[in-house]
Amino acid sequence: MTEPVFLRACRGERVDHVPVWFMRQAGRSLPEYRALRGTNSILDAIADPELACEVTMQPVRRYGVDAAILFSDIVVPYHALGFGIEVVPGRGPVIDRPFSSAADLERLPELHEDDVRHVTRTVDLVVEQLATSGTPLIGFAGAPFTVASYLVEGGPTREFAVIKTLMHREPALFDQLLDRLVEITVSFLRAQIRHGAQAVQLFDSWAGSLSRAEYQRFALPATKRVFEGIADLDVPTILFGVGTGELLTLMSGANSTVVGVDWHVDLDEGRRRVGDKPVQGNLDPARCLGGTTLALDATREVLAKAGTEAGHIFNLGHGVLPQTDPDVLAAIVRVVHDEGKAGVT
Ligand code: CP3
Repeated sequence: MTEPVFLRACRGERVDHVPVWFMRQAGRSLPEYRALRGTNSILDAIADPELACEVTMQPVRRYGVDAAILFSDIVVPYHALGFGIEVVPGRGPVIDRPFSSAADLERLPELHEDDVRHVTRTVDLVVEQLATSGTPLIGFAGAPFTVASYLVEGGPTREFAVIKTLMHREPALFDQLLDRLVEITVSFLRAQIRHGAQAVQLFDSWAGSLSRAEYQRFALPATKRVFEGIADLDVPTILFGVGTGELLTLMSGANSTVVGVDWHVDLDEGRRRVGDKPVQGNLDPARCLGGTTLALDATREVLAKAGTEAGHIFNLGHGVLPQTDPDVLAAIVRVVHDEGKAGVT
């Protein structure tokens, strides 16, 4: 049997249509998600495999996207290890006692598959449900730098002042922290792949806060080691960050199969910077908010910039915004499938 289109595009092969999925497709923009979700913490929802499986499946059924993404979160392994994390609605991850000294390294022990059995159970359920359609499941994790920014800052930040101070003032401690995060991330991804995730995405969402020199010294080596740690499993890997236009050439050297491009860089230029590798992106999520006609104009602009060479996976340049009309996303999927030309035979 030929591989699903999404996986073939990740490997730079020619395809029947340009594949499309949306970051944050499983979540708040769907009324069926809000109906299920209740008012518990998102971490409780993620800990319920039947619920998490259903939320993962909802966008696949509704949109006919070419891949499912596991309903989980980048903080899940650290929550499982008891680091003391909650995800506050409208805000994001918040840490009780942020990482600040060498003593805190002990709070980041090795992650065993059993620590995240709720996640692997969800993967099992999803893989079983996807078997009939052959739609692949994307597993994911946060990249070490982005996770470190939450653990050190104690919550979302615009300035990244605490993490940048740590990295420049105590580089050895920063390196030790990232070593721990690499190990945990590799274990977390390996567990998802072992249970049937057919591709994985590493979210280095906040890498764009770094200069090129900082990225090269403080984020890239750890990211590379994560990909090296799963290379033997031979699944396509995607590296994504926001505001990373200046970093794309460096990110391309991180050993992922695919590089995600956010909307700040046109995709023709993004492809040049990434070089000889497939790209994923890059419709501005805000351009999905003004109704179908405007969103489809923007979609066609992205398809035009993607060109005709193989190796484009259509996505947004960041996650679906909560107020997005699901009908707009459904229309985008149809247009990408009908009109996308990158690598189409
Ligand atoms: O993409 C998907 O559909 C799969 C699910 C997914 C979630 N989080 C579920 C979620 C994925 C891939 C993530 C990744 C994630 N989580 C990232 C990287 C991606 C990115 O956006 O850059 C980051 C930085 C986080 C941390 C986090 N978790 C944030 C910033 C928030 C938003 C807080 C808020 O309410 O605005 C969360 C919560 C979260 N994770 C929600 C969802 C659907 C929304 C809250 C909810 O439904 O209760």
